[in-house]
Amino acid sequence: MTKGKTPEETSVVMTQLVLPGMTNLLGNLLGGQMMHWMDVAGALCCMRHCNMNVATIAVEALEFRHPVRQGEMVCLKAKLIWAGKTSMKVKITAEAENLATGATIVTNVAKYTFVALDKEGRKAAVPRLIPQTAEEKADFAFEEAAYRRRISGG
Ligand SMILES: CC(C)(COP(=O)(O)OP(=O)(O)OC[C@H]1O[C@@H](n2cnc3c(N)ncnc32)[C@H](O)[C@@H]1OP(=O)(O)O)[C@@H](O)C(=O)NCCC(=O)NCCS
Repeated sequence: MTKGKTPEETSVVMTQLVLPGMTNLLGNLLGGQMMHWMDVAGALCCMRHCNMNVATIAVEALEFRHPVRQGEMVCLKAKLIWAGKTSMKVKITAEAENLATGATIVTNVAKYTFVALDKEGRKAAVPRLIPQTAEEKADFAFEEAAYRRRISGG
């Protein structure tokens, strides 16, 4: 196992086009489709960090801020913000782009937690996350405190 990785080393950018089968009757992207894309982008980020398979174990702070329209492009950015023993937390941001005007807007944010699984499907240890920037260090400290509170039952 490597000594550790920076958030930048494993960050993921994933682009999608909103097609007719992905929308509701108003022509807006289905929420479940967005959650699926966020799940895939987050999983890819974690797989790059641990070089193993991963399973989604929790989703939190999921916000739907603006609808995404049929025909728009969605750019999902996923970045690891915390890693524990076997679990990893990713922040995912989705931005919609109107291809006719070039206008962009952040439509969704969320934090997904994944657990690394070995070839037999058992949870496995992950490399350390080494935050670099002030923002990455602050995010890590925040999530570390949240982890401590959760495992102590607080
Ligand atoms: C993933 C799985 C194997 C973990 O096994 P488990 O015995 O429940 O694991 P634990 O309770 O020891 O937790 C494992 C890690 O997840 C973390 N975790 C558990 N519940 C969590 C929650 N609600 N939120 C955030 N992290 C959580 C634990 O803190 C631990 O992290 P650490 O090793 O970094 O300290 C098991 O929960 C599972 O198979 N879940 C279903 C996964 C799934 O089907 N996902 C959808 C398809 S990918």
